[in-house]
Amino acid sequence: MVFVHDLISIRDLEKSDVERYLESAADMEKNLYLMHDRFKEKLAATAFFEASTRTNLSFQTAAQRLGMSVVSYNHAASSSQKGESFTDTIKIIDGYADIIILRHPMEGAPKLAADVARAPVVNAGDGGNQHPTQTLIDLYTIKKAKGKIGGLDVRLVGDLKHARAMRSLLYGLGMFGAKVTLIAPAGLEMDPAVVEETEGKFGLKAEQTAKLDIAGADVVYVCRIQKERFDDPYAAQKLQESFRISPELLDGAKEGMILMHPLPKLDEIPPGIDASPHAHYFAQAKNGVPVRMAVLQDCLSG
Ligand code: NCD
Repeated sequence: MVFVHDLISIRDLEKSDVERYLESAADMEKNLYLMHDRFKEKLAATAFFEASTRTNLSFQTAAQRLGMSVVSYNHAASSSQKGESFTDTIKIIDGYADIIILRHPMEGAPKLAADVARAPVVNAGDGGNQHPTQTLIDLYTIKKAKGKIGGLDVRLVGDLKHARAMRSLLYGLGMFGAKVTLIAPAGLEMDPAVVEETEGKFGLKAEQTAKLDIAGADVVYVCRIQKERFDDPYAAQKLQESFRISPELLDGAKEGMILMHPLPKLDEIPPGIDASPHAHYFAQAKNGVPVRMAVLQDCLSG
């Protein structure tokens, strides 16, 4: 039997696993520009059934930095357009590649893929459900910038109903004992079942509000309104206009507060803020490479 090690949900990981990933990512970051040839016989496939810039490119970069080859499934030009089933497509990719990095708009698709594939499957985002590697990047970024995660005052801001990055991150923050406030416009609050699960498991008590207040926060983590998951895109647009990090709001931030975002950012963070010492989202995106190197290494090593 071939032992495969998938990464489908942050909930599959214990705190010790996450700590191991963070340590391994720190090692990877130190050696990022050295030639790795540990995985030179391995081939990674990125299979993105939904749009992506950072996740796809940073996984490809990570695989190549580890010495792997990479092939990429192009959804718009694939036989899915002729009606081929998802599981057939996965079985085909599984026949070619040693690891499958999958993004799909349908919640649960990576689990289904893992059930039919021999190769390890890494979830690169499934609908509004989970984005475990983004959470590892976020925890890595927070720890690197602030030296710790536990006890920090973290505000999660934006479309908490549809953003998978936020769901996964709440769990990760709970695991490390951060103090979390959930700030969402009315109607876009996080699924109560997800909040309850994290609270029950880690004893965290997440405060919830619609008031965009960042005073005293150590970390402000913003996400965009996830327009593609709305029935009414116009309603999404209106909400996006009303929920923004303005320069004035930032004036009231604590010194050393880091402003994070999984990106892409739209109007919720105006471009002028990029030059602020608080802005940390580009550094966060860059951390995607060492963290995903750590994930690929781990999944391929069993
Ligand atoms: C996020 C995603 O796809 O969930 N982007 C990312 O992976 N960095 C966030 C988003 O699309 O808003």
